[in-house]
Amino acid sequence: MTTFTRPELTPAWQTLGRLASQHPLSLSHLLADSARTQSLNLQAAGLQLDASRQRVDQSVLHALHQWAEQMQVMTRARDLFAGELVNVTEGRAALHVALRGSFVKNPPWGDKVSGLVELELDRFLSFAERARNGHWRGLDGQIITDVVNIGIGGSDLGPRMACQALAVRDGGAASSSLRVHFVSNPDPLALQSVLAGLQPARTGFIVQSKTFTTQETLTLAASARRWLQDAGCPVERQAPHWVAVTAKTDLARQQGFMPEQTFSFWDWVGGRYSVWSAIGLPLAMAIGSSAFKAFLQGARAMDEHFLSADAQHNLPLTMALLGAWNQHFLQAHTLNLAPYAYGLSLFPAFIQQLEMESNGKRTHIDGSPVAVSTAPVVWGGLGSDGQHAYFQLLHQGTHTVPVDFIGVLQTDSSLPLAQSHQEVVLGNLLAQAQALALGRDAERTLVALQAEGMSEEEARRLCPHRTYVGNSPNSIVWMDRLSPQSLGTLIALYEHKVFCQAALWGINPYDQWGVELGKTMVRDMASGSGA
Ligand code: F6P
Repeated sequence: MTTFTRPELTPAWQTLGRLASQHPLSLSHLLADSARTQSLNLQAAGLQLDASRQRVDQSVLHALHQWAEQMQVMTRARDLFAGELVNVTEGRAALHVALRGSFVKNPPWGDKVSGLVELELDRFLSFAERARNGHWRGLDGQIITDVVNIGIGGSDLGPRMACQALAVRDGGAASSSLRVHFVSNPDPLALQSVLAGLQPARTGFIVQSKTFTTQETLTLAASARRWLQDAGCPVERQAPHWVAVTAKTDLARQQGFMPEQTFSFWDWVGGRYSVWSAIGLPLAMAIGSSAFKAFLQGARAMDEHFLSADAQHNLPLTMALLGAWNQHFLQAHTLNLAPYAYGLSLFPAFIQQLEMESNGKRTHIDGSPVAVSTAPVVWGGLGSDGQHAYFQLLHQGTHTVPVDFIGVLQTDSSLPLAQSHQEVVLGNLLAQAQALALGRDAERTLVALQAEGMSEEEARRLCPHRTYVGNSPNSIVWMDRLSPQSLGTLIALYEHKVFCQAALWGINPYDQWGVELGKTMVRDMASGSGA
């Protein structure tokens, strides 16, 4: 039986509740304190977290850190890195941290795991380089110029998001002879649109599936096989066009995948935590092995920070605590992600799976039902576009919606006017963060409307429609530039934030039984035995 304390029974929880009810905090007041602002700007592993627009003062922060101590968050973090069976319902470790290598000489997970990881990393990176150099050949010896990744969830979102983020760095120019495509959705038009314009003789496929039983993925693979077959490539001779990435290599072998084009990862790697493993093969094909190693190094740098920083300067822990404060004590039940960098277009979708599939749970690790809310509903999209779509609700709606802004200071665009674009992008990010925090009260609105030339009578009439409550909590994560290393660091930041929140709530972030019922129902209904 896994022992833990129910979060709502900790002394800190009582303190936090009292602080929230006795003295509500005003950001316009808090932001006037420059020392506080400075203390809430944290740096680590090349990232900066500006949490100054969060509705916390020193007494709240102190109580939050007491909560983390009383839930033994950092003790559990060391158990995670040591390969303890933290995934209590599947009796597994969760060692995605081992995939990016150790920042210490003797890794806490042990040399056996390190050896397995290094061997498979070398294998899939070598294949990626072969493919990038035109040495991956199809059935008739033609060079494979296009590779289609077939996978869904963690077997798609991580590599797809990272390819989008890092291929954009080169201005979209293909940095190798190989073009990487992704398909995840079983709608036939999804595959049809990806295959349009591709030459079967020069197209390779990667089937990414930890279980190798996912219906959507197998449906897509069967259709792709038929596409090759219809182009004169008999199924029994197609093997050179196919790569498998899975934890079930026996299933891949039974389905005819060549062992030398089959790459594996382990049951102690969760799908949403697998981009660091061979699931990252399409990313390595897109950016090359040295850039992929920089991606791993970025995550490793955040791992080192997470385990070594003191609590007050610990970025993942701080983000976890602030998110929990907003949720439990400021009644915010969603979290908006607003990246202000085109390359991070898919980052909100990636974080949706990471956060909601990890912490969308209602049962504690001891099997008892939770009495507190757990994962927030995570949503979002590119911030600049959001300003012209749903930010109205953030500014004048009836919900408190915390925002994680993500800003990239330097653009890699080679456009002549790139800097003027950047000023628009970053100027709006900062203005939105400030506007959400400070708002504009009736008094200042009246002055502003009359300054626009409105009569006092008209200004008073419109004032209720033109005021902004403000006091809406938000953070900004700043990156210097969007690189393999900084993207790795950013992803690891959120992985560890999710871990910390799971520990605060006493839940298991590494299983996903919620998706199993739907899978069995599909089968039952297809066989006529279902509801
Ligand atoms: O959504 C459930 C899930 O198992 C995810 O956790 C996983 O990333 C996805 O489906 C795909 O699973 P597989 O990699 O086994 O095909």
